[in-house]
Amino acid sequence: MVASSFWQPLTAAACLFGATTAYRQRRYIDNSSGTPEVIIPGASSYNGLNLVPQMGWDNWNAFGCDVNESLLLNTAQKMADYGLRDLGYNYIVLDDCWSIGRNSSGYLVENHVKFPSGMKEVADRIHGLGFKFGMYSSAGIMTCGRYPGSLGFEQKDADLWASWGVDYLKYDNCFNQGQSGTPKLSFDRYNVMSQALNETGRPIVYAMCNWGNDDPYDWAYGIANSGRMSGDIYDSFNRPDSRCPCTEAVGCPWPGFHCSVMNILNKMPAIQSRTMSGYFNDMDMLEVGNGGQSDSEYVVHFSMWAMMSSPLLIGTNIPTLSPANLAIYSNPAIIALNQDPSAGAAIRKWRYFVDPDENGEGEISLWTRTLDNGDTVMALLNAANSTMMMNATMNDIFLDQRTAGAYQEPEELRQTWDVYDLWANRMSEAEAGSLINGTSTVSPNSTTRYNATATSYEEGLENNATALMGVHVGSIAPSGTFSAEIARHSVGVYRLRAQSSSSLRKRDEL
Ligand SMILES: *[C@@H]1O[C@H](CO)[C@@H](O)[C@H](O)[C@H]1NC(C)=O
Ligand SMILES: *[C@@H]1O[C@H](CO)[C@@H](O)[C@H](O)[C@H]1NC(C)=O
Ligand SMILES: *[C@@H]1O[C@H](CO)[C@@H](O)[C@H](O)[C@H]1NC(C)=O
Ligand SMILES: *[C@@H]1O[C@H](CO)[C@@H](O)[C@H](O)[C@H]1NC(C)=O
Ligand SMILES: *[C@@H]1O[C@H](CO)[C@@H](O)[C@H](O)[C@H]1NC(C)=O
Ligand SMILES: *[C@@H]1O[C@H](CO)[C@@H](O)[C@H](O)[C@H]1NC(C)=O
Ligand SMILES: *[C@@H]1O[C@H](CO)[C@@H](O)[C@H](O)[C@H]1NC(C)=O
Ligand SMILES: *[C@@H]1O[C@H](CO)[C@@H](O)[C@H](O)[C@H]1NC(C)=O
Ligand SMILES: *[C@@H]1O[C@H](CO)[C@@H](O)[C@H](O)[C@H]1NC(C)=O
Ligand SMILES: *[C@@H]1O[C@H](CO)[C@@H](O)[C@H](O)[C@H]1NC(C)=O
Repeated sequence: MVASSFWQPLTAAACLFGATTAYRQRRYIDNSSGTPEVIIPGASSYNGLNLVPQMGWDNWNAFGCDVNESLLLNTAQKMADYGLRDLGYNYIVLDDCWSIGRNSSGYLVENHVKFPSGMKEVADRIHGLGFKFGMYSSAGIMTCGRYPGSLGFEQKDADLWASWGVDYLKYDNCFNQGQSGTPKLSFDRYNVMSQALNETGRPIVYAMCNWGNDDPYDWAYGIANSGRMSGDIYDSFNRPDSRCPCTEAVGCPWPGFHCSVMNILNKMPAIQSRTMSGYFNDMDMLEVGNGGQSDSEYVVHFSMWAMMSSPLLIGTNIPTLSPANLAIYSNPAIIALNQDPSAGAAIRKWRYFVDPDENGEGEISLWTRTLDNGDTVMALLNAANSTMMMNATMNDIFLDQRTAGAYQEPEELRQTWDVYDLWANRMSEAEAGSLINGTSTVSPNSTTRYNATATSYEEGLENNATALMGVHVGSIAPSGTFSAEIARHSVGVYRLRAQSSSSLRKRDEL
């Protein structure tokens, strides 16, 4: 930012429909001339929270209903020990099945067998370990696990959670009494809890979990901080499952569940422009570590969730995490994409169907995204059954700049771009193993470790922190092509920096 005037992200609804440009619109604030700041209602986080995607852990994928206070507290302790908290995974989210009913005054009562210390005490201890505490309910008469839901009890429930010190609500969509089917019905139902949370006066991140029903990406940015955009994930790379019938988010009448990584990813391109600071399209919790995918498939899953600015909620058993899977969750150069202040989602520039695998699927695709500091990130994704030499031309990488408005050769096509591989510094299994057994030491300029508690990703990116930048592997000349050999079910993720980058800083983007 320069001294007296600066650009700030603007996410007003105007023109988002037709937006094909990778650039985010910004609003201009000129302090020097005494022009007052222009406020555009709804143009940023509705409650000032979640300007970059939430990160943390949620018990559901690995434990389902099998929850209790020692699970939460042991997990939090291990996440701190393994460095995950300080990488930014700072919400511990308790999912369904924690209550036993309501008392005669209508307040929820926690299960005292599972939570013998009481929920307030659990929240205090989680806070004491340096985490925030997330809670679950449903915008229906019951939760999905058939415990009491919050429909009709929104204010009482919000007040109780606030009194416990809850910082985050995951709000599901089960047993909603038919109050869905149109955007207005869903909006009204979810808005009641939004208002109730606000009414408590406590900052609480509001994570809607209505599976993309009734197009939340069209209306939820004004009442929530994230919204699920698909049926539930399951631990499969690309196996189609008839319980997850849709292949597109838009117009999906039955989101279902058992959606694969590739199914959910390929629902994102159409709604890409509806990801914004303060409201993220939630691709669901991470499966890395749960055993259903290969190492390279988990790398694809994690990389693409980061590229799309999906919330990153670890969904596995932390104390039994393998060194290889800890290394995936711990790549700061990939997390920095997710936590980039641009808060955008990648565009799928092309997708070709080739060489099907045993699931009858087989595709390759190119994804790119413009970052806050003027860098571009590119993912070459090979979801086909054999190794591919994949090619990204400058024309493809900068397609949106090329096609923005009256034709003028964009600056980007006249630059030479340095290419940095963001997986080249993946933590070794030996280093991850030493984190797990508590024998690791951190060298100050580590390329594998990052402490976001000490230095935010935003600040680290401004200062080109070593661990965020990857390894230089080549460059792309104007009108050039970048080629890389990408193995079956793998992805290459690259940060592109213009060699004369000063001419491409963000204030020149317009
Ligand atoms: C400009 O003014 C706004 C509102 O008063 C203030 O928040 C901001 O820090 C100022 N920015 C600079 C660069 O002086
Ligand atoms: C708590 O839950 C975990 C995970 O389901 C389980 O392994 C453990 O035995 C439970 N502990 C208690 C005290 O119930
Ligand atoms: C019901 O629970 C609330 C919140 O814990 C408590 O304040 C209230 O006293 C309880 N009411 C009864 C009748 O137990
Ligand atoms: C409540 O909403 C108002 C208006 O949108 C906002 O300024 C305020 O920060 C919110 N408060 C909380 C605690 O969410
Ligand atoms: C996918 O590749 C493997 C070898 O890597 C081969 O055994 C298998 O038959 C291939 N599947 C299809 C459907 O071609
Ligand atoms: C990439 O380019 C190389 C060299 O021109 C070519 O052999 C290869 O088939 C291309 N890859 C794809 C997926 O088209
Ligand atoms: C800890 O893990 C590292 C890496 O796997 C290994 O070399 C070391 O021997 C282990 N130390 C202990 C005390 O288990
Ligand atoms: C870390 O990097 C800084 C800046 O490049 C350098 O001054 C310092 O000597 C390095 N420290 C180590 C331990 O390599
Ligand atoms: C990260 O930084 C914070 C704040 O400086 C510090 O308390 C914490 O111990 C550091 N974490 C690690 C893993 O070094
Ligand atoms: C970070 O790197 C970019 C590109 O090389 C450079 O323009 C910029 O000055 C660097 N920033 C700092 C703080 O070193």
